[in-house]
Amino acid sequence: MKIAVIGAGNWGINLVRNLRDLGALSHVAEAVPALRERAAAEAPDAEIHEGYEPLLEAGVDAVAIATPVPTHHGVAKAFLEAGIDVFVEKPMTFSTAEAEDLVAAADRGGRVLMVGHLLLYQPAVHWLKEYLDAGELGRVYSMHQERSKLGRARAAENVLWSLGVHDVAVLLHLAGAAPTSSVFSGHCGLQPGIEDDTYLHMDFPGGTKAHLHNSWLWPENRRRLTVVGEKGMLVYDEVAQNVTLHHKTIDAELQNCDGGEEVVFEGSGQPLRLEMEHFIDCLETRATPRSDGQNGADVVRVLEGASPPAGAAS
Ligand SMILES: NC(=O)c1ccc[n+]([C@@H]2O[C@H](COP(=O)([O-])OP(=O)(O)OC[C@H]3O[C@@H](n4cnc5c(N)ncnc54)[C@H](O)[C@@H]3O)[C@@H](O)[C@H]2O)c1
Repeated sequence: MKIAVIGAGNWGINLVRNLRDLGALSHVAEAVPALRERAAAEAPDAEIHEGYEPLLEAGVDAVAIATPVPTHHGVAKAFLEAGIDVFVEKPMTFSTAEAEDLVAAADRGGRVLMVGHLLLYQPAVHWLKEYLDAGELGRVYSMHQERSKLGRARAAENVLWSLGVHDVAVLLHLAGAAPTSSVFSGHCGLQPGIEDDTYLHMDFPGGTKAHLHNSWLWPENRRRLTVVGEKGMLVYDEVAQNVTLHHKTIDAELQNCDGGEEVVFEGSGQPLRLEMEHFIDCLETRATPRSDGQNGADVVRVLEGASPPAGAAS
């Protein structure tokens, strides 16, 4: 398998390392000379280019795109139209129209199109999905997700687009549907029009609600999902990488029932490694990726509906 990484910046260098370790990295395109040197040191066997254009005719099987979001549509479309499979980092695009355009291009050409919704490859999230789908928690009343830290403030997108995109992907995955409505609220402290701190509330078909808090201006590293259901509650601690089941409910007579708690899942995988393995598997088997283009477009639709990427007036 010959896969080219386009954009070997902060995140793309991780794609370079993982694909190299999987023996699937053939080329790297990176505009900045110092970063090209770093990529060459990490992957001495790969061909290194300044721009991505030569890769359109280099005989690669697929590309993995980790350039800034505004470039995703143009770069991905060029490769899809050249008959080359594409992995594109999250968020897939800044607009639903562009995302749907990529989905259509992939469909027309029978190409694999996968989006980098990393957390869908975390084993704990996979466990949660199976547990909830099996009905073990009964009706799911609400899901509460928090992802906050002193993070990298971005200039083109707010924290919902930057950090929350992961959570929106997980919440849609666990709910098994797109939300029917959402309410957004955010605060711009550092830059006009770019929220550092956001809240997104979503209503899903069947009555489940989801509440998401994201911040890159926060004193502690908080990554936690709480699911409140009819038969109990689950807490996924993403820092400790475990899931705790709380046997806690309130019955029809409004009496509290507290049966204690137990850790029901432990252990993290290397989600990026698992994500790249899944991509390679889809390239080989032509299976639809877990985070396929449509999934990426559904997430962009939620984000765009909540707050335009250049920052909503708030
Ligand atoms: N999955 C994750 O957890 C995760 C984490 C961080 C970032 N990301 C995503 O990865 C993408 C990149 O983010 P980043 O933080 O690495 O940004 P970055 O700015 O550090 O890196 C982007 C790189 O792309 C290069 N580039 C841009 N246009 C190019 C072109 N035409 N040809 C060759 N190189 C080009 C730039 O020189 C730069 O080095 C974004 O979509 C971001 O949202 C994903």
